This record gives sequence, structure tokens and C-alpha cells, in this order.
Amino acid sequence: MTNILHVEGVEQTELETVAFTVENGVAWVSLNRPDKRNCMSPRLNRQMMRVLDALEFRDDVGVLVLTGEGTAWTAGMDLKEYFRETEARGLQGTREAQRESYGWWRRLRWYQKPTIAMVNGWCFGGGYGPLFACDLAFAADDAQFGLSEINWGILPGGGAAKVATELTSFRNAMYHSLMGENVDGKTAAQWGFVNEALPLAQLKDRVSEVAQKLLTKNPVALKATKDAVRRVREMTYDNAEDYLIRAQEAANSFDNEGRKEGIKQFIDDKSYKPGLGAYDKSKQSA
Ligand code: COA
Repeated sequence: MTNILHVEGVEQTELETVAFTVENGVAWVSLNRPDKRNCMSPRLNRQMMRVLDALEFRDDVGVLVLTGEGTAWTAGMDLKEYFRETEARGLQGTREAQRESYGWWRRLRWYQKPTIAMVNGWCFGGGYGPLFACDLAFAADDAQFGLSEINWGILPGGGAAKVATELTSFRNAMYHSLMGENVDGKTAAQWGFVNEALPLAQLKDRVSEVAQKLLTKNPVALKATKDAVRRVREMTYDNAEDYLIRAQEAANSFDNEGRKEGIKQFIDDKSYKPGLGAYDKSKQSA
């Protein structure tokens, strides 16, 4: 059963742009404008930020999955409500709309819990923002990925050109951006846009499996690790080495007990091997 986050004073049409459900430690969040192929309007962008806020520190949420209702993951920015209508309000309107959309993608990039993009269908343009924001990504074989901006006369903004060059090779990114041709989920996996592509019918089971496995890991280590992988990409080796020392020391001060328990179960109890799986969190006293 899906939920809508109710917020005093916000119109129902805005609240309904995002649906979610929490099951077995996983928050399944859906872009919920299937009739409009889940394109991102200012209303959706505002509501998504509220939903992310509401879920981030819930004890019953350990992993967040972002998916789309209907045939699309997201058809990118809403050409009418995000571009045309905000531009009509001048630079202020444009900047407000940018802040709202870039804001929730940034929030997702540094989210407290691990995040997974479950790309069930169309993924265009501005959709590359949340795609990259999610830590892991799985797509249906037949999902379609496109930087369609060139087809209607703009550049791949909203970070999309950056995302393409971050995730795939220079030649792929350039071809993809200039040609406005789509690639399917299988090619997206080869290019590095997603971790894996698989038949749509198996997509949710695979994502559930990955989410459940993440839930067995130490949550402090998960957050420190996801941030570290994003941060070190832009650092020199020496800076990265230093950052990782500091980040681990900071994480230790949050979670000394979990880390000690992990060492104890391996060295003293010999009950697991870190190279083959995670320690048993349920035995942790504090
Ligand atoms: N902005 C605004 N409206 C959009 C939209 C977008 N990005 N994507 C889809 N819609 C709307 C359509 O206008 C249509 O509205 P209507 O029912 O009121 O006419 C509705 O969503 C359904 O779209 P439709 O084109 O009929 O669906 P489809 O399944 O045949 O095609 C797409 C799906 C995604 C291929 C097609 O909708 C499309 O090309 N969308 C634009 C993608 C794009 O360039 N995004 C980049 C933005 S940065």
C-alpha cells in the first residue's frame, strides 16, 4: 500500500506527485505522475524534498529506493511547468525552480541512508540528476536512457552533461549528448550508467535483494563509505588517503561499539569472515 505525505496547507495535487511505502527496512519512493511520464515539475520537486526529509532519519528506514510509477522512471524536467511557466516569471522563477530540483538531488547524493535507483522505464535529461544521486542503480533491460535536450534545443543542463562524463567514457558521453539517441538498459549497464540491467519482471526482486544485503551492514560504515567513494574521486591520492583517515576517525567516534563487535566476531569468536560477509549486528550490545 502506498502512502502520500500529508503537509498542512499544501494542495493535494502537489502532495500526490510522490508516493512511498516502507517495508522491511526499505523505503520505496515513487515519482508519481505516471500520466506525465513522471516528468519533474516544481510541485514534484518540492514534495520530493519533503518526503526525503521525512524518511531520512526514520529508524525503520535503512535503504531508500527511488523508482517511477507506470512506464517511466522520469521523462526529465517538465517542459511546461518547470521550463515554460517558471521562465515566464523571469530569472527569479527560473532560479527558484533550479534550487528546488537541484536541491533534492544534492540532498540525495549525500543522503544518510544508501540509495538505489530502480529505473523501470524512460529516463531522460534532468533524470540523470537523481540517477547519479543514487548510490547504486538497476535498470530494466528495456528502459530507455536519453539526453534528449539536443532534440529540443538546449544543452544537457541540470548537471546532466556532468553526470554523463562522470559515469561513462568521454566518447560515449559526447555521442550521447550530441546525437540525442537513446540507449537501452543493457547498454546503460555497459556504459556504467547503472550497475546491472535485467528483465523488468525481475527488477524489483533484485533491488530488494541488494537492499536487504545493505541492511545487514553497519549503518555508520555505510554512510562513511558512500560519502568517501563520492569524495575521493576528485582528490589526489595523498588527499584521499588523508580524507579517509579523518573520515574513519570521525566514524569511530559515532560507532566504536559496532566496529569493535565486528573485529571481535572475526578474531575472537571466529563466527564470520569479513571477506565473505558482514558480522552479526544483532549481537551488538550498544
Ligand atoms: N515535460 C512535460 N510533459 C511531458 C514530458 C516532459 N518532459 N514528458 C512527457 N510529458 C507529457 C506529455 O506531454 C503527455 O501529456 P498529455 O497526455 O497531456 O498530452 C504525457 O506526458 C504522456 O506523454 P507521451 O509523450 O504521450 O508518452 P509516450 O509514452 O508516448 O512517450 C516519452 C514518452 C518520454 C518518450 C515522451 O513523453 C517524451 O519524449 N517526453 C519528453 C522527454 C524529454 O525530452 N525530457 C527531457 C527534459 S530535460
